[in-house]
Amino acid sequence: MKRFSGKTALITGASSGMGKDYARLLAAAGAHLVLTARREDRLVSLRDTLLAEFSVDVLVLPCDLMDPVSRQAMLDALDGRGVKVDILINNAGLGLQEPFVAMPWGHLQGMMDVDMTALTHLTHHFATRMQARGEGYVLLVASVAGHMAIPGYAGYSACKHYVRALGYALNGELRPAGVRVTVVSPGATETEFFDVAGHQRNLLAKLLTGKSEAVAWSALKGLHRGRREVVPGLINWLATLSARLLPYTLMRRIMEIIF
Ligand SMILES: NC(=O)c1ccc[n+]([C@@H]2O[C@H](COP(=O)([O-])OP(=O)(O)OC[C@H]3O[C@@H](n4cnc5c(N)ncnc54)[C@H](OP(=O)(O)O)[C@@H]3O)[C@@H](O)[C@H]2O)c1
Repeated sequence: MKRFSGKTALITGASSGMGKDYARLLAAAGAHLVLTARREDRLVSLRDTLLAEFSVDVLVLPCDLMDPVSRQAMLDALDGRGVKVDILINNAGLGLQEPFVAMPWGHLQGMMDVDMTALTHLTHHFATRMQARGEGYVLLVASVAGHMAIPGYAGYSACKHYVRALGYALNGELRPAGVRVTVVSPGATETEFFDVAGHQRNLLAKLLTGKSEAVAWSALKGLHRGRREVVPGLINWLATLSARLLPYTLMRRIMEIIF
């Protein structure tokens, strides 16, 4: 990942799970970092660990991505400090597992705000600048759920379909301007995701759960090469292939058994 050395990467959702792994791998590749999420104490602790291990700059900027005022304050703070973001890792996100009509509207709206609106806002803000400079990298974190429609995760699946569609289109739009846009679609991965989702996984779902660092590594490798989409892991790749080939009713039954 030579091309990332000396660049500055903004990582959303860096307080936990895959975000922490993106931070560590990018620091190891020599990239300077801006870490953001709501839990500042965790970001500070990650910054201190990375600073002790790698010779890179690490800036912590807490932000609630659900809140447009907080998002704008973070963007203004970056401008105020003259920070030029070369690599945008749109990782923050959440899924809520609940029957669609049982979910309070506020919860659904909050999920859509983080998973779609904030991701689109940051992508628009930084891609505009990257295009003007003729260089940049944007990673959009989608999900295997964005390849299918999962009962119980209806809103989340729909959000991740949006992320994939946006990323695919931007990969084509921005490539001629030197900006690489990659979508990563992880399958079930061991992070805090399922705690936040309120999802008690069965044994099969646990067995199919992969490691966070492996996902982050595949995603960054794909971004470095400018690939349109990365689906880390053979099982996840087979799941996305099945979603294309199998009838929806059969696929839905399989999803119900696993999830
Ligand atoms: N784990 C999986 O099985 C899986 C599978 C497919 C895709 N994904 C996707 O992978 C991405 C990373 O999730 P993860 O698995 O690493 O889960 P995680 O451990 O729960 O991490 C989610 C991150 O998003 C941040 N976040 C959530 N709401 C936020 C808000 N309102 N403002 C700012 N930051 C917010 C959290 O930080 P704070 O709480 O500190 O704000 C946290 O750092 C997500 O986009 C998720 O949809 C996960």
